[in-house]
Amino acid sequence: MSETSVHQQIDRMITGYWISQAIYAAAKFGIADCLKDGPKSIDQLAAETSASPDALHRLLRALASVGIFSEGEPRHFSLTPLAEVLQSDVHGSKRALALMSGDEQFRAWAEIEYSIRTGKKAFDKVYGKPIFDYLGENPDKARIFDAAMVGIHGRESDFILDAYDFSDIGVVADIGGGNSSQISGVLQRHAAMQGILFDLPHVIESAAERIEALGLSDRCKLIGGDFFDAVPEGADAYMMRHIIHDWNDEQCLTILRNCHRAMSANSKLLVIESVIPPGNEPFGGKLLDLVMMLIPGGKERTEDEYRTLFDNAGFELVRVIPTASEVSIIQGRKR
Ligand SMILES: C[S@@+](CC[C@H](N)C(=O)[O-])C[C@H]1O[C@@H](n2cnc3c(N)ncnc32)[C@H](O)[C@@H]1O
Repeated sequence: MSETSVHQQIDRMITGYWISQAIYAAAKFGIADCLKDGPKSIDQLAAETSASPDALHRLLRALASVGIFSEGEPRHFSLTPLAEVLQSDVHGSKRALALMSGDEQFRAWAEIEYSIRTGKKAFDKVYGKPIFDYLGENPDKARIFDAAMVGIHGRESDFILDAYDFSDIGVVADIGGGNSSQISGVLQRHAAMQGILFDLPHVIESAAERIEALGLSDRCKLIGGDFFDAVPEGADAYMMRHIIHDWNDEQCLTILRNCHRAMSANSKLLVIESVIPPGNEPFGGKLLDLVMMLIPGGKERTEDEYRTLFDNAGFELVRVIPTASEVSIIQGRKR
């Protein structure tokens, strides 16, 4: 690599947050929603969003330079494919993800030195409490978090369904299922299957609307609770997507043991996570692991680390099934 390209590459990495925070600002001001019916002038956009026209112009010009929005007629902007997914109501919307990343997560990242020095959660240092307590007390932020989870993980559902045969499962439980992007995909693909969506009570309340809108209310029981206390009994498979990575080993053992207690001898355990591969290859889970360290205090794990966790909770790790996305299904059974 030439010296110039080394400098360009590291400069882009060092200043990566210039772009991510500019996207956050566009998401916060709802610019993509304002442009859904066609191009608008900066003056119109600034009036609709209560922004400074000059500052908004500089924001959108900068974003247009990386393919997000496009300036056609001078000081008139329109959507591009990258801007379209920042609209609130499109399938796979990334707006909530941009809002969550640019707000609480960004503030936590600013304290990365603290986490690296102490091994403790930067989020708790900034907000004075764990993330899920904070979300419980801030319903607007909780709604953004739930929508951000669909934005970041929602597309994994089809890959999981393609990689794993759910057809012999009568009742599937999604533990910490959030606003249902995983279980609704499974139930839609398997018309005879019944489901249990389990999450904190305030999350279940908002998920009810989505389950109803998808016409799944008669096939999906909604149960609010705390997986550190207990999880519902009676399912043939217990899925947990991006749950175990949120917690430290001791907390994971409590959750897994609660699943173990609720499961019958033949129930399946399906943990869905990014399994960290060895070596230096690019792998998103290695960066997501830093988010886990800074924010909830969990970690992404290797296959061996999952095997040890399973073993200590009374499960045998049966197999790790890769999917066409970065996540794998780590299947366990009761020993
Ligand atoms: C990273 S999100 C994953 C959501 C969903 N499984 C997905 O893949 O999109 C973690 C989920 O765990 C839930 N959660 C956190 N603490 C919980 C607890 N003590 N009991 C039950 N659910 C909890 C959160 O509300 C959130 O929905």
